[in-house]
Amino acid sequence: MAIKFGRPLERNRLRPVEAEAPCSRLDLAIRPRRNRRADWSRRMVRENVITTADLIWPLFLVDGTKVRAGIDSMPYVERLSVDEAVRAAERAAELTIPCLALFPYTSPARRDDAGSEALNPDNLVCRAIRAIKKEVPDIGILCDVALDPYTSHGHDGLLRDGVILNDETVEILVRQALVEAEAGCDIIAPSDMMDGRVGAIRAGLDGAGFGDVSIMAYAAKYASAFYGPFRDAVGSSTTLIGDKRTYQMDPANTDEALREVELDIAEGADMIMVKPGMPYLDILQRVKETFAMPTFAYQVSGEYAMIMAAAGNGWLDGDKAMTESLMAFKRAGADGVLTYFAVRIAEKLKKGGL
Ligand code: PBG
Repeated sequence: MAIKFGRPLERNRLRPVEAEAPCSRLDLAIRPRRNRRADWSRRMVRENVITTADLIWPLFLVDGTKVRAGIDSMPYVERLSVDEAVRAAERAAELTIPCLALFPYTSPARRDDAGSEALNPDNLVCRAIRAIKKEVPDIGILCDVALDPYTSHGHDGLLRDGVILNDETVEILVRQALVEAEAGCDIIAPSDMMDGRVGAIRAGLDGAGFGDVSIMAYAAKYASAFYGPFRDAVGSSTTLIGDKRTYQMDPANTDEALREVELDIAEGADMIMVKPGMPYLDILQRVKETFAMPTFAYQVSGEYAMIMAAAGNGWLDGDKAMTESLMAFKRAGADGVLTYFAVRIAEKLKKGGL
């Protein structure tokens, strides 16, 4: 029998309250506030929960040892040298965070037009993967595939005469993915938005015996102003020439996101991501409902910076805004969230709840 959602409201029709009525209670049979009256009952009817298993923690890497360098636009987020990244991985594992995402700050001297440092098996990301895998073998490691931390022009692909070359870039991205897989990366995350890269990377990984390495595609990735602080962190904001609108998506589009996601799934993505997060919850919900794939949201650097800036000014409660934002992703259908708040949330969960 079909459930008729209209009925309770019909039944709850107000009857006029007599002027001389002994008490002024409205004659309401149905009172949604009953379920909300105590903490225990709010918990009991809660539809979504956040657990540490929902978290992927993005880490920024920098050369050196014992380095923890702050990032002005991202309070409490630091670039870590490899040894410090290992400590961070240990902390994440203790907190049962399942996965880290690694992003390198490449020294300017190692950046060039072609992003060749991406293919160096001894680059910062590869060294960090090996060190973390050695000391903390049970934590998952996700790495971007894209050239922007390595190019002198700050783009994710090869730039020729003002144009980002697609197919030539894909060839390099496949090699970058292989270098990362060789170092021990568990999840390859193409964030470049070139056409056909997921299929090419899947074929490349399988051909080289990395059939167990997963792909999380940045499938619907928008050309967003909210990446600003990340570009500070990896040092590409000052170098970036122009913008990324010829490869990242137009924020005006929704249907296009479904086509992008469909292609990445057809090409072999194991998991898909929508990015940015909160301004794109509609996309997240539609993607999850349409494809029923493991679907992740990236609460990007600008979203983090906004909450932290407002909290720093005393304009909102940072912890509450953090929790509410995470709940919004879960409600919209995310299976997990890449978030710079990961450790803070996990610590709060461990202490007994959010
Ligand atoms: C690189 C990449 C970006 C982010 C993740 N991978 C920036 C960009 O595309 O310019 C953004 C993450 C964030 O803002 O937190 N392609």
